[in-house]
Amino acid sequence: MKLTVMLFGLLIASAPSFASPFPKGDAKVGKSLHDKSCVSCHVSMVGGDGSALYSRQERKVKNAQQLQARIRGCNTNAGANWFPEEENHAGAYLNNAYYHFK
Ligand code: HEC
Repeated sequence: MKLTVMLFGLLIASAPSFASPFPKGDAKVGKSLHDKSCVSCHVSMVGGDGSALYSRQERKVKNAQQLQARIRGCNTNAGANWFPEEENHAGAYLNNAYYHFK
């Protein structure tokens, strides 16, 4: 009985957060997509690893909808030709790593 409870606890702890605004996104996939198509341009703007764009005080994106819209806009501008699923993966990654929208 105790073991079942423990295992159940583990399951819950390791399950992805369903409250995430990008429930279908896979943050790991998103990171590699992002590193491939998005980083170099942001780095040329803000230096470092480019992430300052997401964590700066005056960042533009204020909620999950705006994040989604910005990813779509940059995807189009950059000509990355991502599918909506790929935008979701990137959304999950950026949200987990930087934005933390609920
Ligand atoms: C050709 C250059 C370029 C490429 C490539 C690019 N971006 Fe951007 N990105 C920008 C610019 C310009 C901004 C706006 C900066 C501002 O408003 O101050 C921006 C801003 C953003 C922001 C909002 C930052 C904030 O203020 O909160 C996100 C999120 C973002 N980009 C995601 C992406 C993703 C995902 C990709 C890859 C598909 C990508 N970008 C590729 C130029 C680019």
